[in-house]
Amino acid sequence: MTDGRLRWGILGAARIAVRRVLPALQRSERSAVVAIASRDRARAEDVARQFSIPTIHGSYDALLANHDIDAVYIPLPNSLHHQWTLRSAEAGKHVLCEKPLATSAEEAQEMVQACRERGVLLQEAFMHRFHPQIEAVQALVAAGEIGPPWLVRSAFTFTVTSADDIRLNPSLGGGGVIDVGCYCVNISRLLLGEPHAAYAAAHIEGVDVRLAGILRFDGDRVAEFDCGLRAPFRQFCEVVGVSGSIFLERPFQPEERPPTVLVRRGDQERRLEIPGANQYVLMVDHFAECVHQNRTPRYPAEDAVANMRAIDALRESARSGRVIPI
Ligand SMILES: NC(=O)c1ccc[n+]([C@@H]2O[C@H](COP(=O)([O-])OP(=O)(O)OC[C@H]3O[C@@H](n4cnc5c(N)ncnc54)[C@H](OP(=O)(O)O)[C@@H]3O)[C@@H](O)[C@H]2O)c1
Repeated sequence: MTDGRLRWGILGAARIAVRRVLPALQRSERSAVVAIASRDRARAEDVARQFSIPTIHGSYDALLANHDIDAVYIPLPNSLHHQWTLRSAEAGKHVLCEKPLATSAEEAQEMVQACRERGVLLQEAFMHRFHPQIEAVQALVAAGEIGPPWLVRSAFTFTVTSADDIRLNPSLGGGGVIDVGCYCVNISRLLLGEPHAAYAAAHIEGVDVRLAGILRFDGDRVAEFDCGLRAPFRQFCEVVGVSGSIFLERPFQPEERPPTVLVRRGDQERRLEIPGANQYVLMVDHFAECVHQNRTPRYPAEDAVANMRAIDALRESARSGRVIPI
């Protein structure tokens, strides 16, 4: 830490780092990006220039050997999250790892264990849950505004334009449910708890490019969702209680515009204006604060293990056509 700022290193010149997370780290008053590594030094130089990052490493290992770094951000393909989290923990670095934390619950559990043993913080970079609109929904549900929630419906679909995108590559951990369905699974679990069974049907083109899934929870509660990488752009979440419902138009990527939360009870409809926020800044600030104050994060990494358990079951169901217990 310098001046109370967490000193970050970035593993890979990934699109998400350039588009979202580096701008957020620049805005964060608790963070300083001190180094970036790329397999291609010229690419790291480009990004370093753009974000005034002082140190460039030509390999991820070289960055992990840098003693001036407290924490790493890992925006690598999903199949590499496990390996580089273990190596980062070994090097004594705190880890903010992109979603999905791993490609299976087993991998995720090993990552949690390795970080615990090394005394470093591990967090999955699910940014949506730091947005005030999600806190508003949780508060409305807790206040009984819609009665006991029994159903969560959600979707996150879009079209990946490039054929060599990592999301379409099975050997890099691509696939609709693991890459974007993970958001729907996460928001369903956030609102309903842990599911006990999963069913899914998918269309496969190398990976599942469109998938619809159902998760069952205790007390006959259900989550249904669809996700896709070759589908029109859609995102929404609806929480249905026994006496009302809550609708979010942009639950996962609201950008910084103030989102609206629509609450319906009988024939009454209320629109709540939520202040705009940058959920990536809120996420990295929270991470830095937890490291600084040695605090347990709001969403411990074990949550990612449970998310992966549900995703494992959904994938198994899509393969076998059976309902899979979780
Ligand atoms: N939270 C969010 O909003 C959000 C949004 C999109 C994606 N993501 C997640 O972020 C991660 C990266 O996604 P992205 O879309 O940014 O991917 P991307 O642009 O393809 O970046 C991945 C980076 O990983 C590095 N890499 C190392 N080995 C690689 C390999 N064998 N093939 C390809 N790249 C390799 C590359 O960096 P160097 O060549 O520079 O080393 C590359 O730039 C994924 O886990 C994804 O699920 C999160």
